[in-house]
Amino acid sequence: MASTTIEQIREEIEGLKKAGTYKVAPVLASAMGPVVKLADGKEVINLCSNNYLGLANHPEVLRGAKEALDKFGNGTASVRFICGTFTIHQELEKTIAEFLSTERATTYVSCWNANEALVPTLLGESDAVISDELNHASIIDACRLCGKKVTRLIYKHSDMADLKNKLEEAKDARRKLIITDGVFSMEGDLANLPEIVQLAQQYDALVAVDDSHAHGVLGKGGRGTPEHFGVKVDIITGTLGKALGGAAGGFIAASEPIIELMVQRSRPQIFSNALPPATAGGALAAIKLLQNNPQLINQLQENVAYLRNGLKELGYNVIDSPSAIIPIIIGDTAKAIRMADEMLKYDILITGFGFPVVPEGTARLRAQVSAAHTRSHLDKALEAFKALREM
Ligand SMILES: Cc1ncc(COP(=O)(O)O)c(C=O)c1O
Repeated sequence: MASTTIEQIREEIEGLKKAGTYKVAPVLASAMGPVVKLADGKEVINLCSNNYLGLANHPEVLRGAKEALDKFGNGTASVRFICGTFTIHQELEKTIAEFLSTERATTYVSCWNANEALVPTLLGESDAVISDELNHASIIDACRLCGKKVTRLIYKHSDMADLKNKLEEAKDARRKLIITDGVFSMEGDLANLPEIVQLAQQYDALVAVDDSHAHGVLGKGGRGTPEHFGVKVDIITGTLGKALGGAAGGFIAASEPIIELMVQRSRPQIFSNALPPATAGGALAAIKLLQNNPQLINQLQENVAYLRNGLKELGYNVIDSPSAIIPIIIGDTAKAIRMADEMLKYDILITGFGFPVVPEGTARLRAQVSAAHTRSHLDKALEAFKALREM
């Protein structure tokens, strides 16, 4: 019986290979940075990490992590409400709330957990969630976790007319939540927050934004898409695993009652250990570093513009946006994957994405830029892209 099951699983994996969705992860033998060493010793320019501000291995972030490790040890050995809340968690959450100008924040071991905490905890019987079709998988799963008791409506990507239709459909719901990525991870485009907020006001809905790819990237102070657009939203979720230290961890920042509800009721916090102290200490140092050095954002934005313009000059079809994600549309999946492999020969690490991760015919290379990239890193990448243009 069991051997039949294992055989079926093997076939499933073979199916992934045939479908071209089987992943072979590059293995790094160095810390995360603009240049990384692969396990075979080869040094490559890294165009595929979310280390947008280059803080994952920054001395001040490491100091924050080490100090927290020395003071609090390896972990809490407890969930938050039993005996797993340390002062470093309180300090981090206070800093996140201040940074994002919300009343309060609470942390999770990942933003995946934060999203899965938020939606099913906030919504129940007679409520509705209205979600962009291209939202991150964690939001999609968070909505599914609500089960049948919550009405789940999905609007076409950034289609405000469709969002309005869905709000109309949900108008009798007790609570309505519009949830969106701030920056969409495959397209690199931004949610239309000004119109979303306006529609939310019209229909008395709450707005939640997952700004994982926007914190440390957008807005003058790196506070994400609300700062970029100059609007206020009700709930912000984010990761501490990208620009804000690059380790792990996630958070929800919102008004006091919403956060109190999460602390009291959200299952990923009540039934799972707290963020490890070193991770919390590193993230805290990263946010402080960003607050004290907002010029990091300018550096990142300059780098993004330089690479984006360079790619356009080479004739590549790149999706425009102010985010640090630059999708380079290739079209054919096999070609995009081949190009990513080819880039490695030029010492450039970049990922190719094809169907079904992105719509058929829009396979792409996804370049992600960091403030830590130097002009010469970006020039070297552009030279490689130039050589590949003829492929
Ligand atoms: C938009 C978005 N939300 C959530 C996550 C999950 O973040 P974490 O790694 O903290 O779970 C990601 C990670 O890729 C993301 O891109």
